[in-house]
Amino acid sequence: MALLSIRTFPDPVLKRAAQPVENIDGSLANFVDSLVQTMYAAPGLGLAAPQVGDSRRVIVLDVDHESQGKRLLRLINPRIVEAQGSIVWQEGCLSVRDFNADVRRAARVLVKAVTLDQREIEVEADDVLAVVLQHEIDHLDGKLFIDRISRIKRELYRKRLAKMIKEGKTDEERPSPARL
Ligand code: NI
Repeated sequence: MALLSIRTFPDPVLKRAAQPVENIDGSLANFVDSLVQTMYAAPGLGLAAPQVGDSRRVIVLDVDHESQGKRLLRLINPRIVEAQGSIVWQEGCLSVRDFNADVRRAARVLVKAVTLDQREIEVEADDVLAVVLQHEIDHLDGKLFIDRISRIKRELYRKRLAKMIKEGKTDEERPSPARL
């Protein structure tokens, strides 16, 4: 199976709100498989369709790469229906090169979504799973974690990225444990 190529900031597709999936069929299942393989290969704890240039509301996540697949979630049209508390987590993103930052999010969320076999499911999450769910659903709304940090920090990152691009340094991948 071919891996999909991951788009990075400032690719405009990352800013676009994704559209709800209306038909769950074989071609969607194939796409979701590719998304999963691309996430594991990256590696990342989660991946949203817009990150591979596809504006549909689909996310995949697996917060346990030690036993790959056990906690794998493939969610179609996910939405947060309840959110409580607050947690600060150092986030990174496969679409944001060479940058991590602390982001405050809800500590617990309840997410409703549809599965590939067309079942409505609910996912109750806290800790890292709650963080990754919110991060990936943000991608569906055209939002990156750098949109949730202070403007000063975001501007510093923009400048650093521009410099890296100018110096041709962006192909150096720095492994990071928490890219979502
Ligand atoms: Ni991300």
